[in-house]
This record gives sequence, C-alpha cells and structure tokens, in this order.
Amino acid sequence: MLRHDILNLLTERPSENVSGEKISQQLNVTRAAIWKQIKILKEEGFDIEAQPKNGYRLIKSPLSLNEWVLGQVLNTQSLGRVIELNEDLPSTNERAKELARQGTVHGQIVLAKKQSLGKGRLQRQWESPEGGLWMSIVLRPNLSLADATKITLAASVAVVDALKELVNLPVGIKWPNDIVFNGQKIAGILGEVVGEWNVVQTLILGIGVNVNFPRQRLGDSFSAVTLYELLGYELDLNILAAEILKYLEGELISLEHKEFQELRQKWSERAIGLGEEVRILRGDQVLEGIFKGISIDGSLLLETVDGEKSFSAGEVRLRSKQGVYF
Ligand code: BTN
Repeated sequence: MLRHDILNLLTERPSENVSGEKISQQLNVTRAAIWKQIKILKEEGFDIEAQPKNGYRLIKSPLSLNEWVLGQVLNTQSLGRVIELNEDLPSTNERAKELARQGTVHGQIVLAKKQSLGKGRLQRQWESPEGGLWMSIVLRPNLSLADATKITLAASVAVVDALKELVNLPVGIKWPNDIVFNGQKIAGILGEVVGEWNVVQTLILGIGVNVNFPRQRLGDSFSAVTLYELLGYELDLNILAAEILKYLEGELISLEHKEFQELRQKWSERAIGLGEEVRILRGDQVLEGIFKGISIDGSLLLETVDGEKSFSAGEVRLRSKQGVYF
C-alpha cells in the first residue's frame, strides 16, 4: 500500500525530513499522489510535519489501532502475522469464526475500533465503545480439545503480564479469566470452538480490554473500569495488542510442550481470592466454601463442608464471601 511505503520511507531515518521529490522518485508516483496519501495519514491520526522546503517528517504515530503501526511493533512468529482491522463490527469473534471457516491461517487476528454486538461470557453482552482493544485470534493449535480449553487460562496470564510490563499495574485474574483491578473488571476473555472440534481443531480467542475511554461509556456497570480511568492517560492500543500477542504466543508454545503445571502455577500466582472464603452462584443456588485453586483443566476447586467440589467455568459465577464481585 502506497501509504505504508511512504511511512516506511519516513521512518528509515526518523529524525530527518524526507523531500517530496525523493519519495516521488523512490516510489515512482507523483508529488500530488503523495500529498493525497499524507492527508489520509493525518486523518488516521499520524502527526506528519509537511514543509514546502524541507519535505516531510513523521512526528508521532496514532495511539488508535493502525495496521502499519501494529506491524511495526509486533514481535511474534505466528500470532498477528495476518491482520484484519475494521472500523466497526458486530463482534470480532463472529468475524473471526467466518474467516476460520473460510480456512484462514493460524494466528490471524481480527480487530475492530468498536463493536455493536460484542459478546461476553455466559451469553452476556460486552460493551465495546471506541478506544478499547477488541481483538479475536484464530488459533489452530497442536492440542487436544481437553488441552485447548486451557488456552483461555493462558490468555488471562498473557493479559496480566502485558499490563504489568506496559503500565506496571498490579492487576489480577478473577476466576476463570476476568482481569481485575481492585474489584473492577478491566478485561475479559471469550474462547469459542469453531464447528466440530475433532474435525477442524480451530479456536477463536476473543480478548476485550477497556482502555482509552471513560468508564461512563460502559453504562452503569459499577464493577468495570477502564485503564484511562486508572492511569489518567491514553495507551497505544497497537503496543498493547502486540504485547498481549507476544505473551500469548509464549504461553501457547509452553502448552504445546505440555507444560500445564507451569501454566497452572502462573495462573495461581496472579489469581485473586485463592485460599479465601467465597460464594459460588449456580443459577439461584449459592454454595460457600474456600477457594482452593484450579484443577489442571481450569475448573475451580471449592472446599465445602461436604468435601471438595469442582466447578467448570461455563456453569457458575464466583463471588467474594460478601456476595460481591472481586
Ligand atoms: C467476558 O464476558 O468477560 C468476555 C468478554 C470478551 C469480549 C471480547 S471483545 C473481542 C471479542 N469479540 C467479542 O464479541 N467478544 C470478545
């Protein structure tokens, strides 16, 4: 794409101006064509200095999602090597499923600047205004179905580690895979299997992070918060996506090497409420006990007066002893 070629030229020597003439010669296009692309880049949020005498200089890239910027910061072998970025989608998970059925490669990601019908776990809706990171990854891992369910645990570890590295925010995992700060949800993960698992072996991993927007955009959900609200500044969504993908790729490789104990250990070190008295909600039913940890497949282990019980993520919700989200 011409726009991307221009950006590549401008970043070859970041502190220097590049003349329109040089760009025009190197890319074999007219100066008017370059100017048109520069205008589009500015609309996309690139800060480009344009001086008639000195030429062009890239001052700043946008913090919003951008295919070129993401390509620059991505540091992975397979995840995110094919990118589809949309302005607006009902749900990136649904779009990723469609692409998976059409046979797309392992690691393709689908991003949307906003979603109109974002999907949450347990058939809930996921508010997805502009400024968030709404991303789905098509995975065709070398894992059995039983082992593939652990990918959502791996994803929650990856999101925690990415946030720790980027903003040093001590976030935790609320079972099974909510990312939480001080009892308020920052990110969620939704794993979905495409078609018959045994036939296609494809999983869609949806990751939603509340990043650059005020909390009010989430409606009156008092148990959710955004990174902007917590940090007071906006984050580069491209860097955040790249960091999450980097950690996720590492976790996937360990899973394929059957390093489950390591994953369980990592998950437990980041978990909230371990060893505490908790409530489990199954429909109208409430059970109390001590949260002992997770089994190797990610089920929650609860020590109750009647002995140890295990619960899978699809059937119950976890609350603190006071009955609140934590
Ligand atoms: C949850 O309920 O905690 C899971 C939320 C998952 C939201 C993400 S946003 C990107 C992807 N597309 C969707 O429709 N949902 C997931």
